[in-house]
Amino acid sequence: MYTWKAAVLTLSDKGYAKEREDKSGPLIRDILTRAGYDVTEMLLLPDDRGAIEQCLRSLCDEGRADVVFTTGGTGFAPRDCTPEATLAVAERQAPGIAEAMRAASLSITPRAMLSRGVSVIRKGTLIVNLPGSPKAAKENLEAVLPALGHGLAILTGRDGECAR
Ligand code: MTE
Repeated sequence: MYTWKAAVLTLSDKGYAKEREDKSGPLIRDILTRAGYDVTEMLLLPDDRGAIEQCLRSLCDEGRADVVFTTGGTGFAPRDCTPEATLAVAERQAPGIAEAMRAASLSITPRAMLSRGVSVIRKGTLIVNLPGSPKAAKENLEAVLPALGHGLAILTGRDGECAR
């Protein structure tokens, strides 16, 4: 059976400048690997809208991933632009995924409402924005993981393996 290909894209000025270690990217990779995904790419970019858009287009248009998880840049900081970059490359929106993440997260912290993350589809690839902190990224990812395999199967027409 086909194994879903996932890419993880960390968006962080400080991470890109090596002023802060990226802990969320590796944590997301580990959760995905345990769930049966093949994490084929780990990428790190600053909060630069043009660079993020270009990277997302390439990942989707070249079929490099069935699903892209971004982490970071979803909040209110002036440089946070991950949702804007994601919407700019979107062909269709998949709002239920972002809604489910915020709904689950609100039972953990009221600050969940501060994530502006979106979920969209471009060609045969799903893009899911996760918040930046390891705790928030894990909680958001685990809230939606059980339904993603079914969505990817419908999107791609493949019979993919999904552990959960
Ligand atoms: N969601 C969950 N599940 N747990 C959290 O701790 N933190 C919130 C929110 N979502 C949080 C969460 C906070 S404090 C912020 S500012 C936003 O995610 C945006 O995070 P980002 O700017 O790092 O992307």
